[in-house]
Amino acid sequence: MADVVSDIKARLDIVDVVGQYVQLKKAGVNYKGLCPFHSEKSPSFVVSKEKQICHCFGCNKGGDMFKFIEEVEGCSFSEALKILADRAGIKLEDRAVERSGGRADVKDMYYKAHDIAANFYEHCLHETNDGRKVLEYVYSRGVTPETVREFKLGFAPEGYDALYPKLVEKGISKEVMLKSGLVAAKNLASDSVYDKFRLRLMFPIFDQMGRVCGFGGRALKADQMPKYLNSPENPIYNKSRVLYGFSHAKQAIKDLGEAVLVEGYFDVILPHQVGVKNVVATSGTALTRDQAKLLKRFAGKVVSSFDTDGAGFEATKRAFFVLKEEDIFMKTIVAAGVKDPADYVKEHGAGFGDLIKEAEDFVSYYLKRLSGQYDATKVEERRTLLKEIIPFCKQMPPSEKDFYIRELARLLRMKEEALYDEIERFQLPHDHPARDLGSSASGSAASLKLEYDEILLAIFLAFPEVFEACKAECLESDFGAYTKAIYNVLVEHYNLRRDRLEFPEDVLDKVNFLSLYGEERYESYTNEVKVKAVKDLITRIRSRHRDEQHKDIGRLLREAQEANDMERVIDLLKRQQELLSDNN
Ligand code: CTP
Ligand code: MN
Repeated sequence: MADVVSDIKARLDIVDVVGQYVQLKKAGVNYKGLCPFHSEKSPSFVVSKEKQICHCFGCNKGGDMFKFIEEVEGCSFSEALKILADRAGIKLEDRAVERSGGRADVKDMYYKAHDIAANFYEHCLHETNDGRKVLEYVYSRGVTPETVREFKLGFAPEGYDALYPKLVEKGISKEVMLKSGLVAAKNLASDSVYDKFRLRLMFPIFDQMGRVCGFGGRALKADQMPKYLNSPENPIYNKSRVLYGFSHAKQAIKDLGEAVLVEGYFDVILPHQVGVKNVVATSGTALTRDQAKLLKRFAGKVVSSFDTDGAGFEATKRAFFVLKEEDIFMKTIVAAGVKDPADYVKEHGAGFGDLIKEAEDFVSYYLKRLSGQYDATKVEERRTLLKEIIPFCKQMPPSEKDFYIRELARLLRMKEEALYDEIERFQLPHDHPARDLGSSASGSAASLKLEYDEILLAIFLAFPEVFEACKAECLESDFGAYTKAIYNVLVEHYNLRRDRLEFPEDVLDKVNFLSLYGEERYESYTNEVKVKAVKDLITRIRSRHRDEQHKDIGRLLREAQEANDMERVIDLLKRQQELLSDNN
């Protein structure tokens, strides 16, 4: 298995692999681009051709090409293996994945279970009498037979034991069924389970790679609750990452650089059917940062088209802030006279595409809407209006701010300077959606904390000439547990010819990482500065050592005094004295 991994690594270049996701530019020995894992305006994502690793110095994500694919696709190692093997033109043996150095997968069982379920539901929709009635209902909503197939719609029959015997038959464990939410247990003690989805129109939910990872089941009777029954999160379904329709829309989003964001399942499939293929849905929940990041990888613009009710508009406003965090420009449309995009398509067909083309930038749209609602000649109403709109203008790039302030000044007949003042003074209320986005766990950048000895090695690994100049200053005792092993290899074998060094297997990743770190952080400095940095680091390491020894001796002294062990006390005092004179 290790062979497949190294085979793939030999055939592919991490610069090309990453290049599929990130625009890279050569910068010194390495390549640089905007990090795909967190939002940033200046590039801190570094790819090393020589070392075949990548690392973000902003959020600290990175690794080899497998790790990169796992992170960027949100997939498992075995999936990353499949993707890269495919790209490298290497055929994987069936068992190869399972033998992948212990990194084999539970997730595969979940994919299998969902696949079986999706096929079963699809079969029921097309091949049973009850299913055909549901199919008629789907057609009556304006969906064509091709679309039904394309989105693999299905039907979960009425009984309690339609699906689960099929899963049992195919060897799916009870745990997988339960965690997937496909079945429920009758009670805690009993072994028996029953189907969760009954008498529902089934929308399979696909992950980024187009595999079924969950379901949304629509009620088919008026009194059936809830209206949509959704799969719970499970090892292959992370709700905050998945957007419904993404795998179907991905290519179009890429091509257009724009995505259409809607609320519901029907709102995805109907526009898709009339040629608006770049549509994805939040499935009725608030847009998350991870979802926005996913979009950002392919699109700089989003057109929101939520339900035309009040809740839909609240969701639109919230989406604006989430998208803004990822530097995505949001436009918006209002499908006037209907309740949502699905209904608009049913009435106007491809006219929906025209509506998308006419989408207006959200802030302008909102401004107009507000100035229709409030009478800006009345001081009080003007205040309310300003309170509404200002959060949207805060933290905008100056050019955009200028644009909206002019518009706002014109609408409110105010001076532009006064508006700038208002924006400056305005504090976001505590519960405003624009708040606490910055601190969301998944998006925040973790700061990298390296120990002094690690930084020391980083400089040495990246610049042999600096090591040459400083090696007489170093002691083995300056290094810690794993850095000592690396340092010793340097002492023995390092030279200015940069011969290939043989590092112990278990520190190889560290060596690559530290050397990349050294390059990135110290490249722009002269050797003189680097040597100074080295000396400074050594001083810090040793003074920290002494502090620690001091503490140790202090503790031992107290113990010896309490035990009245005078001999030991004298000995320890002597050592303390030595340490102090070392200090000067
Ligand atoms: N939704 C949900 N659970 C509910 C209601 C809604 O998960 N109880 C999600 C579904 O993804 C749904 C979306 O929110 O598609 C939008 O809800 P709604 O507008 O009520 O449904 P529609 O998609 O418009 O469905 P329909 O057109 O059949 O009424
Ligand atoms: Mn709707």
